[in-house]
Amino acid sequence: MRISDPTLIGALAALGVEHEPGVSMAEKTSLGIGGTSDLLLILKHDSLPELVRLLKQHAVPYRFLGGGSNVLLPDGELPWVILQLERQNPEVRIDGNSVLVDCAADLGRTVTTCAKADLGGMEGLIGVPGTIGGALRMNAGAYGTQIGTFVREVQVYRAATGRIETLRGAEINFEYRHTSFAPDDIMLTVRLELPSKPFKEILQGIRICNEKRRASQPLNQKSAGCIFKNPPGGSAGRMIDELGLKGHSVGDARVSDRHANFFVNAGHASAADMLALISDVRQRVRERYGVELEEEVIVWKES
Ligand code: EPU
Repeated sequence: MRISDPTLIGALAALGVEHEPGVSMAEKTSLGIGGTSDLLLILKHDSLPELVRLLKQHAVPYRFLGGGSNVLLPDGELPWVILQLERQNPEVRIDGNSVLVDCAADLGRTVTTCAKADLGGMEGLIGVPGTIGGALRMNAGAYGTQIGTFVREVQVYRAATGRIETLRGAEINFEYRHTSFAPDDIMLTVRLELPSKPFKEILQGIRICNEKRRASQPLNQKSAGCIFKNPPGGSAGRMIDELGLKGHSVGDARVSDRHANFFVNAGHASAADMLALISDVRQRVRERYGVELEEEVIVWKES
């Protein structure tokens, strides 16, 4: 989606929103898949309500992209402009055990920043790619840790009301890879409460998790992490592996040889390739195990 109306372009500039025309979204996602669209970079959180109002007034559909590490975007010219929070200098403000974090901050970097202040608890999340905002939306988790446990307050732009609101942690439902945020909520800042822990101890935990991850996941390949959620009591990776599907591919979309629930872009995979692979594997798992796998990756559909 392109913005060409000079009135709107002028209004965006006046609002302090950076307009980058014709950006390849493949470069903004960890899968390296996605078509082209105009990108609107939000420099100040409080410009969001007016920005959305303007887009609606000009009938410009939009979607918000976080770190791009857990999404599958369509190919070709996208039917939305893409909004993203500026990620250059996200703030992490520490006050005792309380940490106020900009949702555009990198999750891993936040974990290490907090560790240096002797605040732990999030060691398991160290290798999870993406932003704090993305981690919140999905209640990111690994090695027994889920980010939701530490959330005390979230500032969020709610498309439903057109306002920036503050939610208390207790008002938000954090479940396995699911939260009660609306799909069009945009997380802006979060206040976490982290337990005190000596830096050395946290570092040790981080090392162990990094090693486990390196041993079992294809970290040097383009992926969106696990493609499917684990079904209750089961393991999507183990089932796909048992079906002998490691290395199975559609075009350049390929089931990782290392972890069967990671589907990698082994070259120039299109969204169509990846969707066909997802659908093929889902069908084989359904036929063999009678289990309907649900996507963990967020698939942007053109409707
Ligand atoms: N397994 C296989 N073959 C494989 C992959 C896994 O047999 O190809 C077996 C393993 O041997 C193990 C079991 O399946 O017995 C579970 O595997 P693993 O420990 O790798 O964990 P997982 O359930 O596949 C989950 C999360 C990961 C997270 C790890 C570590 C989901 C969908 N995945 O994976 O999160 O990093 O635990 O805690 O919940 C993600 O969310 O994108 C993600 C990668």
